Amino acid sequence: MIRLDLSGISGFLEKLDLGAAEDAARRIPAHEMSGWAVLPAAYSVATGAKLRGAGSKIAESSDALVVLGAGGSSLGARALIEAIPGRGGVREVYFAGDNLSGVHMARLTETLRDRDFSVIAASKSGTTTEPAVALRVFLKLLRERYGDLRDRLYIVAGEHESPMRSFAETCGCALFGIPESVGGRYSVLTAAGLLTAAARGIDIDEIVAGARSEAESGAGEAIRYAAARQGLYAAGYRTEIFASFEPDAKALGEWWRQLFGESEGKGGGGIFPATVGFTGDLHSMGQYIQEGRRDIFETILEFGARGGDAVIPANAEFDDGFAFLDGRGFNDVNDVAARAVRAAHIDGGVPVLGLEAGSFDERGLGALMYFFETACAVSAFLAGVDPFDQPGVEKYKGIMRGELRGTD
Ligand code: PA5
Repeated sequence: MIRLDLSGISGFLEKLDLGAAEDAARRIPAHEMSGWAVLPAAYSVATGAKLRGAGSKIAESSDALVVLGAGGSSLGARALIEAIPGRGGVREVYFAGDNLSGVHMARLTETLRDRDFSVIAASKSGTTTEPAVALRVFLKLLRERYGDLRDRLYIVAGEHESPMRSFAETCGCALFGIPESVGGRYSVLTAAGLLTAAARGIDIDEIVAGARSEAESGAGEAIRYAAARQGLYAAGYRTEIFASFEPDAKALGEWWRQLFGESEGKGGGGIFPATVGFTGDLHSMGQYIQEGRRDIFETILEFGARGGDAVIPANAEFDDGFAFLDGRGFNDVNDVAARAVRAAHIDGGVPVLGLEAGSFDERGLGALMYFFETACAVSAFLAGVDPFDQPGVEKYKGIMRGELRGTD
């Protein structure tokens, strides 16, 4: 279960409006886009087996996997595979279809010249330009290299009729659905996140089990997190910085940023979500956080169990004044850094919300992502906006498509 420590905001916010946040949480089940909330309970043995089967096929046949998708159709997958080591899965995973850079595409296709590869193409709407053009490149490459697409191309699409779905049916490729009631940024527990994880050899059943146990433990901590965020926003703290001391959680921060940014940034308001990785970013953003504009609050993520450590070895030939650290574990030193940063930032006028996730593994990540989805929905309802739409994104997509077609 995720635990929230509010002691770092006590000097900044007198009390939380928990009643309003509880009312906001009650709105989740009634919303037509709340299908994400029941994904852990709906996940069946057959769902897991289909995903694992496709994942094994990718791992057995390929040196590399290319994942095509934008926003919610790739950020969840990326967060999972960066945070959790794969066991026996495909060795290399590349992401494309989330940008329009010719340089990136040319470099990627060059990299793949001497690798056997498979492709996952994910787009819920099927109307996003980036994955659509990237898919054209990979269809050509796959046809030239392998002829038949069937064992090389895996399609993840919304459940409505779409060219992506019809194409999967025509070419005989494996097709995975994203339920219509699950929005892109809430889709990590569908094939949009889990298929790439399965191909990497990550235990996807454990990810879902983590989410399920978080769902079953109730929304109490997510409600408190949402209430604290909105309380701080009302008190003038407009930017939230998500900080982790685990470099492998960097992509998780990017997933978190999309979840909250796209859900809340509406109607001229919303907490601006930013993300940093400590201790590295203390040497780039630390100064600003400590002494810049005082409208920032931080959410610092820590894991109760990390499943790995390294010891700082003694070294008699190198006397740089750090010998007092010889023999200590990196995690121990990292924890001291976390405590020091928290104290310094609070002292500098930055309210700090502390989040403790259980473990830095499949179960812990599943629980954490479900926790954030719940907190995000509650927080957006509290702010008076729809957590599940993204009218601004649709707007740019439409304008860009029009310009590219030459009709504007
Ligand atoms: O949260 C969302 O809905 C968006 O960020 C989408 O995930 C993103 O725009 C990609 O959309 P699609 O999967 O339809 O290509």
